Amino acid sequence: MKILILNGPNLNLLGLRQPEVYGQTTLDEIHQACQAHGKMLGVEVKCAQSNHEGELIDWIHKTRATPTGIVLNAGAYTHTSIALMDAIASVERPVVEVHLSNIHQREEFRHTSYISKVARGMICGLGPHGYVLAMDALAQVLKNES
Ligand code: DQA
Repeated sequence: MKILILNGPNLNLLGLRQPEVYGQTTLDEIHQACQAHGKMLGVEVKCAQSNHEGELIDWIHKTRATPTGIVLNAGAYTHTSIALMDAIASVERPVVEVHLSNIHQREEFRHTSYISKVARGMICGLGPHGYVLAMDALAQVLKNES
């Protein structure tokens, strides 16, 4: 079993970027926590980040090769990217959408998610802990579907 932790634009600046909204934890620290949690779950974990929509789509397409669950924080592409939504629908892999902040308590334009339309589930507002919760959910889904 494999889990891809995929992060979109500006998330490479976590820790520095609007800490009052996104907290002090860096993306490296989140990825380390995901790797450690993967060991505990007995799943292989791959972590990736890109500021480019096409690269995120390429990462999603790569999951066609092996049964892989995807934890996706698409950043602002969440609210704009029909292309990412289509990529997820094309690969038919389980996706759990994650947001550090509670997008529903923020600006109106953050209330719409194209990712939610094709994701199995969504976790928001729980900070970095959302990633490990999403991994638990995916491990269960992958086990049930294997
Ligand atoms: C985010 C929420 C998005 O609205 C925003 O554009 C981000 C981060 C989050 O993790 O809370 O870049 O996905």
